[in-house]
Amino acid sequence: MNPRLSGPDSIADHFGALAELRDAGLIRHLGVSNIRPEHLAQAQSIAPVVCVQNSYGLGHRPQQDRLLRACGEQGVAFVPYFAIAGAGRESGLGGAEHGEVLAIARARQATPAQVRLGWALQRGPHVLVIPGTGDLDHLADNIAAGTLRLAPDDLARLEAIHQGGQ
Ligand SMILES: NC(=O)c1ccc[n+]([C@@H]2O[C@H](COP(=O)([O-])OP(=O)(O)OC[C@H]3O[C@@H](n4cnc5c(N)ncnc54)[C@H](OP(=O)(O)O)[C@@H]3O)[C@@H](O)[C@H]2O)c1
Repeated sequence: MNPRLSGPDSIADHFGALAELRDAGLIRHLGVSNIRPEHLAQAQSIAPVVCVQNSYGLGHRPQQDRLLRACGEQGVAFVPYFAIAGAGRESGLGGAEHGEVLAIARARQATPAQVRLGWALQRGPHVLVIPGTGDLDHLADNIAAGTLRLAPDDLARLEAIHQGGQ
């Protein structure tokens, strides 16, 4: 198991404390981060969860697809971090971009980062990405990725990468 998701078996105590602050009017909406799928149900039984922020991206933690879908079914926003950097961010190792991502980017006149962001956004209307950048050109690219529409064939090719964990 990834250490970032090892955490407590129950988040009820922590989330309950936040729910009390919400009841007191000190917090408007509650979200959770770095959770396992079972934590969502625990939290939802205490107070409404508006968003889940977990590490996730193309080829990065495909086992989180089930949590992503559960969020969609429950009207909870899924907010992946590391949607661009993926596993490389956690390991501290960068890596060469996948050839399929490069090919799709070329065909769509987009950048590989935009393909990664567009793919994440097309996982569902409840998915919101939060790419980090210190580069204004990248910021413009990342905003523009919101309008990138990958074709079914692109998505099928990317799904193979995703499930392969690359
Ligand atoms: N909830 C949590 O536990 C948690 C944990 C970690 C991070 N976060 C949050 O998640 C967000 C994203 O995290 P992150 O910034 O570390 O990861 P990220 O968004 O996946 O990747 C950022 C990296 O990608 C590069 N990049 C960004 N846009 C690019 C583009 N258009 N083209 C090429 N490269 C691009 C950035 O370099 P440049 O600066 O050169 O663009 C940077 O090296 C942040 O807001 C962070 O605070 C939350």
